Amino acid sequence: MTELDTAGVRTIRVAVIGGDGIGPEVTAATLPVLGAAAALDGAVVAAEQFDWGGDHYLRTGRAMPEDGAERLRGFDGVLFGAVGRPGVPDHELIWGLILSLRQQLGLALNLRPAQFWPGARSPLARPEGIDLLIVRENTEGEYAGIGGRSQQGRPGEVAVEVAVHSRTAIERIARFSFELARRRRGGLALVTKSNVLRYGYTLWDEVTGEVADGYPDVQYEVVLADAMAARMVERPAGLDVVLCGNLFGDLLSDLACSLTGGLGLAPSANVPYDRSAPGVYEPVHGSAPDIAGRGIANPCACALSAAMLADDLGLPRAAQAIRAAVAAALARPGGRTPDVGGTATTSEVAAALLAHVTTGGSAR
Ligand code: NAD
Ligand code: IPM
Ligand code: MN
Repeated sequence: MTELDTAGVRTIRVAVIGGDGIGPEVTAATLPVLGAAAALDGAVVAAEQFDWGGDHYLRTGRAMPEDGAERLRGFDGVLFGAVGRPGVPDHELIWGLILSLRQQLGLALNLRPAQFWPGARSPLARPEGIDLLIVRENTEGEYAGIGGRSQQGRPGEVAVEVAVHSRTAIERIARFSFELARRRRGGLALVTKSNVLRYGYTLWDEVTGEVADGYPDVQYEVVLADAMAARMVERPAGLDVVLCGNLFGDLLSDLACSLTGGLGLAPSANVPYDRSAPGVYEPVHGSAPDIAGRGIANPCACALSAAMLADDLGLPRAAQAIRAAVAAALARPGGRTPDVGGTATTSEVAAALLAHVTTGGSAR
């Protein structure tokens, strides 16, 4: 855990899991930026690399060692790139690594902010006012991992996939979301599909409604998931906190980030409610095999995830400096990778972020 040396310098222990594809490219670009930013709060980052992911799977038959999650417990935070590698079934790696970490470390909260960054591109004519926060339940719902297949390969084959929704998890995330809404702009939209999924999502409606009674100052509404998809495109600026179950949160977060500049700019935090385990901070994007190895991945989503880590570890200057560096990079054409309309490489953007953090913005 966090240590202070005799000079009062705080050491932040960060586990780095680059993973596959562009994952290691964006974590490598981010680490120096995080290190320089942490210094602004008088902290030093001690990073330890874990080579888990697709290659580890091909070598050992597992995406991470059996005790992988336990090995991470002593860290203050985990910076995660992405997992997913051609040649290995996706679900093997996903369940063997990122979903295992979310479940085993009890990272029940997934926070996915989406705000428009000047200089970024959007398919919307006027994306400027978008500033929403998706709060996604992260360990239950459609991601419970319960199901099976029978008569595999035969004409009569069937598969079941069971979604699990617990009162405890819903109540906790609802309470958390109302508190957040209070500290933000006072709006909360719950996304469900209780008109059809009449067991799990009616539970969401009921429990969240009960919690809402204690927050009369928050503007609360329930929006069906299909309608929310349209609303996000048509009137996104009015949205503040958007509370979702696991699968809807996954889908809507890609939509939200597409409206605000794309996957290359979208960060996320997977965190427990208490400090019982380190949070896992990762870009919303995946391993992007189509651009892996070409040096053009946008490191900003990962850097902004590191800013969320810094916030959670009580390094506010670091978090602010990283965000300011991203904003400055995006504001000029030379600071943009191709996904955001520029020609810069990953290392050019990384260097620009580092220079901005180091000089407080006085260097270009
Ligand atoms: P993806 O997010 O990897 O890529 C979608 C598109 O966005 C691609 O065209 C890609 O080039 C682009 N893109 C994504 N991140 C970018 C960045 N930082 N800079 C520039 N362009 C970027 O999604 P996908 O193609 O559906 O999935 C690829 C693999 O990643 C799959 O194996 C999938 O399961 C996995 N995945 C992993 C995670 C994770 O580890 N958390 C998340 C999503 C997908
Ligand atoms: C994400 C990804 C993951 C998810 C996968 C890789 C498990 O799409 O982080 O958005 O569905 O949560
Ligand atoms: Mn996703």
